[in-house]
Amino acid sequence: MLKTKIGSLDDLKKNSQFSRWINDHDILVYKNGGKIEAISNICPHFGGPIGYHDIKIVNNKPVFTCLWHNLQFCIKSGECTTHSNLVLRKYDIEVEGQEIFVYIN
Ligand code: FES
Repeated sequence: MLKTKIGSLDDLKKNSQFSRWINDHDILVYKNGGKIEAISNICPHFGGPIGYHDIKIVNNKPVFTCLWHNLQFCIKSGECTTHSNLVLRKYDIEVEGQEIFVYIN
């Protein structure tokens, strides 16, 4: 498993989320309450960007809404809440001081 720096806490100050490409992975880093998490920024529907919009609350659940066809994904599990069988990949991350690292395998 590859541990790579993806950004810093400063990158989350403006929008509470940012995305970066690392190798072939487009990874979205975001704040989930007090936690920092990471998820694929590539929609499993047709590849649209997941992090274009900010997180919003739908039916009491925080979700990402894909830019292209508006499918929504639970920020916690990555499961699509509007279309069964679609799931976004989650990534493990680690915060060390001000730096954010992601694990890619
Ligand atoms: S590509 Fe994301 S909803 Fe279609």
